[in-house]
Amino acid sequence: MALLDLIGIHKAYETQKILTNVDFSLHEGERVAIIGKNGGGKSTLMKIVYGILEADEGRRILQKNIKVGMLDQTPRFKEGMKCQRGRLKRN
Ligand SMILES: Nc1ncnc2c1ncn2[C@@H]1O[C@H](COP(=O)(O)OP(=O)(O)OP(=O)(O)O)[C@@H](O)[C@H]1O
Ligand SMILES: [Mg+2]
Repeated sequence: MALLDLIGIHKAYETQKILTNVDFSLHEGERVAIIGKNGGGKSTLMKIVYGILEADEGRRILQKNIKVGMLDQTPRFKEGMKCQRGRLKRN
């Protein structure tokens, strides 16, 4: 059983079709890279996986007790934060 399933996802921005009938599953222990051309819809797909964007059609099924996290493609960090041993800390 997959941790997460997207089934038959369709997404358009206005008249621009971005995702057409996309299926995606993620199983425990899997590491998946999504590769595609610029503007191909990778971030759109990830936002649907994350749950901040709703598909126009299709189903998103998440196993119980699964938390989805997402690091934004262009993260905006608060002023005064710095990276220390891979962790963000305030000055
Ligand atoms: N909120 C939005 N409103 C309208 N169009 C959008 C919106 N977000 C993305 N798009 C358009 O949808 C298409 C897919 O964008 P998306 O960001 O999903 O692609 P991507 O594969 O992540 O691109 P990149 O490789 O540049 O990160 C692009 O043409 C983009 O301009
Ligand atoms: Mg992107």
